[in-house]
Amino acid sequence: EKADIGLIGLGVMGQNLALNLAGKGWKVAVWNRTVPGKEEHIVDNFIAKRAQGKSIVGTQTLEEFVDALKTPKVVFLMVQAGSAVDEMTGRLLPLLHKGDIIIDGGNSNFEDTERRVKELYEKGMYFVGCGISGGEEGALHGASVMPGGAQEAWPFIQPMLKSIAARAEDGSPCCEWVGPGGAGHYVKMVHNGIEYGDMELIAETYYALKNLLALKNEQMADVFERWNQGRLKSYLIEITAAILRHKECGGGYLIDSILDAAGQKGTGRWSVINSLQLNTPLDVIAEAVFARNLSAEKSLRVLMAKHYMHVENHPVYNYQDTVAALEATLYAARLVGYAQGFALMRTASDTYKWNLNLSSIALLWRAGCIIRSAFLNDIAEAYHRAPGLSHMLLDRHFGLEVAEALPVWKKSVSIMLKEGLAVPVFSAALNYFLGLTTHHSQANMIQAMRDYFGAHTFERVDSPRGEFFHEQWQEKK
Ligand code: 6PG
Repeated sequence: EKADIGLIGLGVMGQNLALNLAGKGWKVAVWNRTVPGKEEHIVDNFIAKRAQGKSIVGTQTLEEFVDALKTPKVVFLMVQAGSAVDEMTGRLLPLLHKGDIIIDGGNSNFEDTERRVKELYEKGMYFVGCGISGGEEGALHGASVMPGGAQEAWPFIQPMLKSIAARAEDGSPCCEWVGPGGAGHYVKMVHNGIEYGDMELIAETYYALKNLLALKNEQMADVFERWNQGRLKSYLIEITAAILRHKECGGGYLIDSILDAAGQKGTGRWSVINSLQLNTPLDVIAEAVFARNLSAEKSLRVLMAKHYMHVENHPVYNYQDTVAALEATLYAARLVGYAQGFALMRTASDTYKWNLNLSSIALLWRAGCIIRSAFLNDIAEAYHRAPGLSHMLLDRHFGLEVAEALPVWKKSVSIMLKEGLAVPVFSAALNYFLGLTTHHSQANMIQAMRDYFGAHTFERVDSPRGEFFHEQWQEKK
């Protein structure tokens, strides 16, 4: 009997997805290219160990692999994003037929996915760019799955993809068709952007707790654990507590031995590049990317720190007040990060004609993924109540919460800056919110200068929008 689905790329994510699929009753064929210089065969190894006794068949050549699949053939690519996807697709095409399906489960750039969907469509085949979040654990036990591309493929792959998805509290699978073209990978990209913002906000909170309150790791873990019982409840807060408690074998707290130079693979940066192309503010995510960039310049920072010594002695702040203020600040800033991510998806949906359902996307992120959190339910509800909602913070529920947090949010950001703590994302979120809620901004001055030096024209407060004026600012010489 032929296999229901084939999977190429037996890295840990690929292996785990194959095991997850097999565990849900699907027959899976797997293949991996042989890695030069590696003696042991990756496929044989997997079949002999982790896949033993499961409905997983190993294949030795790409031809044998494709031949092992039912029609229409469904091939799940779990190879590295970038040229490897094109390479594999190129090798597969001569072996596939009209109606066959390729799913790319990597973190591919959505523009590549757009192109691949079109290229395959012209050949009568269907390409699906599928965002998958949840890391190794999610791949094995249930991920958040964001498929998009050639919709003709959806009826065939839906049962399989839904079966490997995480279940939300109400039992529904965190997998839904996102939209055409590169929509699936786009939504995964924004998910990762929000992840960057969330992570940096948590890191800044950790930094503030440590520096303003001089808390020990265990005490900070207590704070995060407590917060995880309330409105901040989320996977990232939960693992922060666990990280803070983690000790090395026979040693001290590991967190204190980890170098403060952050890495990144590109999805956060892509979100920011796209937001610039779409003229949509994404300050929280942009600052989170820049913060990682700056962190990575460790030797420059060490040098600069010697030159510009910060005042190290500051008062130790009151525990109760500061913890409560940081909770409100983290919550409000986090709301801004999500609001910006959702606003970007709204603009992208209009620009690329994807017809994204923002409520359904929030539902997809309730379980399985890295940014899973309690308040995604509230976001889903907000966009369900008002599908055309132009900004998340116009929702009454969030509006009330942000308004309530504002005084304390302003105060705690000022305190952190006054004490010389760099908190770029806390600041960016507040700046964005203050700008967003300003009736009379400073941009009249920008327009005046543009017109002064370049005759770029301006609109007037006493004339309808769209009517442009130019002033003769200087006497003609
Ligand atoms: C997920 C993660 C996953 C991966 C990120 C990390 O949703 O499961 O986002 O995709 O861990 O790519 O990205 P950086 O290496 O850029 O931090």
